[in-house]
Amino acid sequence: MRQFPATKDKNVIAQIGEDAFAFQHHGETIIQTVDLITPVVDDPYEFGSIAVANALSDIYAKGGIPKYALNIIEFPVSSLPLSHLEKMLAGGRDKASEAGVAIVGGHTIDDSPKYGVAVTGFIPEGGKFISKSEAKLGDLIFLTKPLGSGIYTTGIDQQVVSDKQINEVTLLMNQLNQGAANAFRQVQLNACTDVTGFGLLGHLKEVAESSKIIIELDISRIPYLQDVFQLISQGAVTEGILKNKQSFHQYIKHSTPLTREEEYLLYDPQTSGGLLVFVPSEEKENIIKEFEKNNVTASLIGMVLKTGDPCIITKNNIE
Ligand code: CO
Ligand code: CO
Repeated sequence: MRQFPATKDKNVIAQIGEDAFAFQHHGETIIQTVDLITPVVDDPYEFGSIAVANALSDIYAKGGIPKYALNIIEFPVSSLPLSHLEKMLAGGRDKASEAGVAIVGGHTIDDSPKYGVAVTGFIPEGGKFISKSEAKLGDLIFLTKPLGSGIYTTGIDQQVVSDKQINEVTLLMNQLNQGAANAFRQVQLNACTDVTGFGLLGHLKEVAESSKIIIELDISRIPYLQDVFQLISQGAVTEGILKNKQSFHQYIKHSTPLTREEEYLLYDPQTSGGLLVFVPSEEKENIIKEFEKNNVTASLIGMVLKTGDPCIITKNNIE
């Protein structure tokens, strides 16, 4: 996508390289995004619900409120029962309605299963479009969900996970980033993005690159699903982890060496991952209070150390 020429329309305020497209129309800021995923869990209802939570995330990351969505469905009509499709769509519809979003149409193709939505939202009055490129020196970085969903869903694929582990990751991926967005709307913040396919380090690198900053990350503070290391040792490692490492490792410096398992966790592609929220340090107490009010478990995982060529320095136990 980065090879696409940028549009020069003066009403466009965010395009390629951002989480979502945004433009101004009659004084309102409209945001649009689209996301489509392959099944990450076996239960079709839960898969539909997760696919919608995942797609809405880009709107929340930009400070928007999602409003309408269109289904994009690929479904193998000849090899799977139609009831499977119905459950998937019911899951999507219920998650959308939890978010106050109406699904108003869509399109289906006969192919191996994939599901997602194209979403339209808006920036509420008094709000602003939150970009990736405005992170500032001294900003604190919060992460609003634990890592490890890619490792768990790989474990589901390989049939090495327990029902308890399936429930844990299903619940996590189903969680909307709505609460986190409601929380950060109450404070001054500089930048935000969501953690998805590029993993924690890949998405941090995107912010570092577009804001021209150097990030310090405290490994000891990074939240994760409790059995990730066990699942990695059982072989629940995808190509995605290795691809992310290959793409982003030149931007990462380790001040203390990481274990192989820690490294895999930081590169693990997430489905419906949390938000990375960059706030000035004066807002620390305020945002913690707002996260609590909105029942969001957020972790302070690092800070913007310097301005300069994009880099992420990992440390352990920063005081
Ligand atoms: Co995104
Ligand atoms: Co996206």
